[in-house]
Amino acid sequence: MELDLAMLPEYLRQRHAKIGMFEPETKLRIEEIGDGNLNTVYRVSESVNPERSIVLKHAPPYIKILGPKYPLSIERLTYESRALDIYNQFASGTAPELYDFDAETAVIAMEDLRDAQVLRADLIAGKVDPAIAEQMGRFMGAVHRHTYIEKLDSTTAQHYRQRFANTTMQAITADYVFTFPYTEHETNFWTPGLQPDVQRLKADTDFLQQVENLKQIFLTVQQAVTHGDLHTGSVLVQNNTAKVIDAEFAFYGPVGFDLGLYSANYLLSYFSHQDTLDAQSALKAAIARTWQTYMLEFRVDETLKEQTLQQIFHEAIGFAGLEMLRRLIGAAHVRDIEGIADISRKLSVERAALQFGLTLVKQHQSFRDVSAVLAML
Ligand SMILES: Nc1ncnc2c1ncn2[C@@H]1O[C@H](COP(=O)(O)OP(=O)(O)OP(=O)(O)O)[C@@H](O)[C@H]1O
Ligand SMILES: [Mg+2]
Repeated sequence: MELDLAMLPEYLRQRHAKIGMFEPETKLRIEEIGDGNLNTVYRVSESVNPERSIVLKHAPPYIKILGPKYPLSIERLTYESRALDIYNQFASGTAPELYDFDAETAVIAMEDLRDAQVLRADLIAGKVDPAIAEQMGRFMGAVHRHTYIEKLDSTTAQHYRQRFANTTMQAITADYVFTFPYTEHETNFWTPGLQPDVQRLKADTDFLQQVENLKQIFLTVQQAVTHGDLHTGSVLVQNNTAKVIDAEFAFYGPVGFDLGLYSANYLLSYFSHQDTLDAQSALKAAIARTWQTYMLEFRVDETLKEQTLQQIFHEAIGFAGLEMLRRLIGAAHVRDIEGIADISRKLSVERAALQFGLTLVKQHQSFRDVSAVLAML
């Protein structure tokens, strides 16, 4: 069923006992606040007492911005609600509280992160908070450690595998991150001046082989519960605290995927701040901090083999490179770079970022640690 704004008062009345926030006769104000592509997000608040509020996220049975001709399973919100459960269990305080999940109508009722803003907006403004980078390292490390295959008995491991067998959304990522950007696909676009670089990339057989290897890792390695789309638009910052949202791509996969995507979005921001040295050095330091915190949190009991960690680290670098590239030549670009009005400046930022992403993919197995990556900047 599709739920539009006019149907919400009745929906809230029926669901009142489960959601719990409002008394049945309370007068409510409802507004659409979402800026995403796939789903609808509403804020519901008490008319006389607006600080009593919740956020409802609803998945229509199609891609919201494209319309009913583009169906997409509403189960995406089941995975998101399961991920929110995991976050609140293992990394409490780093995600909105989950009040209610209605699988039939595909609605999540959650804590309203009022006055929060997306991390990406902070980075664009050159506001780089090391505490956020550290919290995100801890968040990823904690979620991955608690759901990590080697630390679970086989029944628990099977339970996580099944609960996060999000194959529909994983296939979308496989297409948009690992496949489409390197084929002739209608959703790809890039700044015209970048054409020679794109051509070179698509003809580079060594590179294409690495893309294929990383795609196989993405599709087959099952290590822990990963967020699956952890870019800087999936993090809200509220009172200096990071809150992770939008986990509809969560799946049981390679842990390096989250670390890679998150770092790649900092790197893209780094290149966008071409002439702002303060912002650039803060971004570099933030990436280092995220990795250090992640490694400490993830291997907290020291049982993980050095070799396993090294492999995770290499995969994360490869994924970071691919995330950078698809944000430059694929379907979904980042505001950090798209917002650069001066076209020649934008082109030089994109060239540098593309070259860097390419190097990360091709050489991901040869970096000793994160400082070796940052030393190339
Ligand atoms: N719990 C919340 N509190 C406050 N605002 C929120 C909350 N959840 C989502 N939002 C707002 O709604 C926006 C869209 O949310 P979200 O990214 O989850 O939706 P989406 O449709 O899945 O997006 P996408 O198309 O990027 O996947 C967020 O960027 C944020 O501004
Ligand atoms: Mg989403």
